[in-house]
This record gives sequence, C-alpha cells and structure tokens, in this order.
Amino acid sequence: MSTTLSPQEIWAPHTRFNPLPLYARMRPEGPLFRQMDANRGVPIWLSTRYKASVELLRDPRFTKDERLVAPQARQARVAEMEAINRNMLMSDPPDHTRLRTLVSKAFLPRRVEELRSRVEAIAHRLLDALPAQGSVDLIDAFAFRIPVTVIAELLGVPPEDQDQFRVWTTAITQLPSADRLESIKQASLAFMAYVQNLMEKRRAEPREDLVSDLLQAEEQGDRLSSEELIGMVVLLLNAGHETTVNLIGNGVWALLRHPEQLERLRQNPALIDSAVEEMLRYRGPLECATHRWAREDIEFHGQVIPAGETVLVSLLAANHDPEQFPEPERFDITREPNRHIAFGFGIHFCVGAPLARLEASIALPLLLERLPRLRLAVDESQLQWRQGLVLHGLKQLPVAF
Ligand code: HEM
Repeated sequence: MSTTLSPQEIWAPHTRFNPLPLYARMRPEGPLFRQMDANRGVPIWLSTRYKASVELLRDPRFTKDERLVAPQARQARVAEMEAINRNMLMSDPPDHTRLRTLVSKAFLPRRVEELRSRVEAIAHRLLDALPAQGSVDLIDAFAFRIPVTVIAELLGVPPEDQDQFRVWTTAITQLPSADRLESIKQASLAFMAYVQNLMEKRRAEPREDLVSDLLQAEEQGDRLSSEELIGMVVLLLNAGHETTVNLIGNGVWALLRHPEQLERLRQNPALIDSAVEEMLRYRGPLECATHRWAREDIEFHGQVIPAGETVLVSLLAANHDPEQFPEPERFDITREPNRHIAFGFGIHFCVGAPLARLEASIALPLLLERLPRLRLAVDESQLQWRQGLVLHGLKQLPVAF
C-alpha cells in the first residue's frame, strides 16, 4: 500500500469533522484498508468501497459475535456487562434470527405509522417550548428529545427517566480507551440495573408496551433468556435514540450549509422523503457499521484477513463512492437513484429504519415551517463532532431563529 496514513489520522478532530478526504485516499488502495486501532492497539480493516461493503455485510465468514474469535479479550473488557452484549446486533444466526423475530413486528412500517400523531405532538411540544426568537442548541432542545421520547414510550420507560438515559448512553458509546473503561463500566451497570428494575415492575403489573410483550415471550419458554431480555431492551433504547438524533442533527446541518436545497424543500415539502434519504447518504448517523470479525483466514478481493481480526465497514465512505454515486459530495435532495447503505445491509439491516424515517420526515418539515429564519448561530468551524468511528454526529448544533 502506498498511501501514508498516520495511525491517529482517522481519530483527529479535523477528520471527525470531515472523514471523506481520508476515505478518498484509502479507496484506491483496495477494498479494505488495514491500519492500527490506536485505542485498542489491534489492527482494523476499513472497507471503503460500496460494492465490496455490500458484499462484506452479507458474507457469513465475518461474525458479529466477538466471543467466537477472542473469548479472553472480550471477557476481560466487558465481563460485568455481558448482558448488554447478548443482543441481536452482536449475534449470528440462529440466535440472531430468534432475537430479531421477537421484535421485528413492532417496527414494521404499518405498525410504526400508528405513531405518526404521537411523533407530531412531541415535535410540536418541543417547538412550543422554544422562545419566539433567540438561539438554542438544537441537538438538546429538539433532535435528541424526539427519538428518546418515542423509543422510551414504546418500551414503557417513564418520561422523568429519559434525561438519565442520555448520560448513560453517552458514556457507554464513548471510545473504550483505558482511562474511560471505569466510567463506561459504571454507566453500563447503572443502565442494566435500571432496566432490570423496570422489568420487575412490568412483570408485576404488565402494560401495553414492548417490555411487557418481551416479558411474556420470556415466560412462554425458551425463546428469550432473562439476560437476552436485558440486552434487547438496552439495545433498543440505545439504537433507538443515539442514531436518529444524528439524522435530525446532521440533516439540519446539511440543509443549513446548502441554502438552495433548504429553499427547495421549504417550497416543496413533499420532497421530504427523498431529502431524508439524501441526508442519510450525505452524512448518515453512523460513520461505520459495528465491528465484525474474521471467523477464519478470509480471502477477500485478493487480500487475506487473518482469523480474529476486526473489520469495520465505513457506511459513510461507501455512500460517497463515486463508482456508485455520481458527484458524491453534492447534496441533492432529489438524488435518484439513491441506494445508500446508511441503515446497513443484509441480515443486520436496521430494524428501526421505518421508525427513524418516520421521525425525521415529521420532525424536519415541522421545524422548517415553525422556524422560517433558522440559521447557524456559530461559525461552522466551531462545531464539534463526536469522537469514535461508529456514531457520526454533532455534540451541539447552536442555531438562531
Ligand atoms: C437514522 C437512524 C438510524 C440509523 C442510521 C441506523 C443504522 C443502523 C445500522 C447501520 C445498523 C446495522 C449495523 C451493523 O450491521 O453493524 C442498525 C441495526 C439496528 N438498528 Fe438501527 N439505525 C437507526 C435507527 C434505529 C432505531 C430508531 C432503532 C430502534 C428502535 C434501531 C434499532 C436497530 C437494531 C435493533 C439493530 C440491529 C439489527 C440486527 O442486528 O438485526 N435503529 N441500525
């Protein structure tokens, strides 16, 4: 490989703001680019091309279950948090199929559509709470609150506990560097204890919510162990709001830096569905899909990935591959075709995609309609992006209106 990349480059703040130039340098080197993960001290292979990424995401030679390839490493790192990892996203079939089947119905487009009026009411309430004019952090005041309220209501988590979730999930999704390990562990334990307590309450007094439904599945036999039940609830709470917050945040950011596209959408709100797809492609909420590991020595497009090594598919890089998307850096809310992989691909394709699409397609037009003078309140260079290679979003989005 001829490109010289410093191991730290991918984590540098300027790269977090815009990783695309770095990916453009990696892409010609081959479908997979090997470098050291500075935080874990192990090699990682980054997949940066669209076609190879789609292939990789459906290749069963890569596992989602780290225990199969590195039992000790995982045990040492996360022993106390094992329940958190007993979830569909970290499993292969047949466990994956069994776990996914238990919840997939709740997230089908038809079921999710029933939440439309509730999402509208939540978005209106948040906008009502803003001053007539002034400035706010849009992430805190709006983008975060919609998905967290919706997923918490679906599962049956009381509203007064929702802020606490943000503290826990932010801690849990931090980079697992040595000095942060303790805070990640503490947050995970507190989160699990909370979920366990909630489950006990629902066991004693079932309600019409997903936690009560899942408890029934657990009681009916061997379909769901109690550890898996905790894992499922934690995964849904986490995935349900750590991602959509970035779809709304990154989406507003993209619109504000492309005033002509913003104006087009204001003039023609019916473009919202295709605009949301372009937001997902242009700066999706996940830079990379979650970790995968080579089950065996794998030959992939002429490269050999040794058994046990980690592979990360950069969804952002794939969604900017010029072979698949002409002029990939152009933000075009009418782009067609737009077969992005922001929700992943294959058996782990996002279960919550219909819900995320519904939330964004309701929240964004309402925001634009009610704040006609919406603009950035700081210079773009002052915006800070979250660290880490998986979640891709702004820490804050100060806007004026
Ligand atoms: C715009 C928002 C969202 C994006 C971009 C997104 C993206 C993704 C991606 C890329 C994956 C696959 C990860 C991989 O293969 O490594 C995934 C899986 C998943 N997502 Fe989402 N997600 C979003 C919203 C949601 C919501 C709202 C929920 C929940 C209610 C959710 C629940 C899940 C679950 C449970 C999985 C695991 C599926 C499986 O392993 O079969 N996501 N998501």
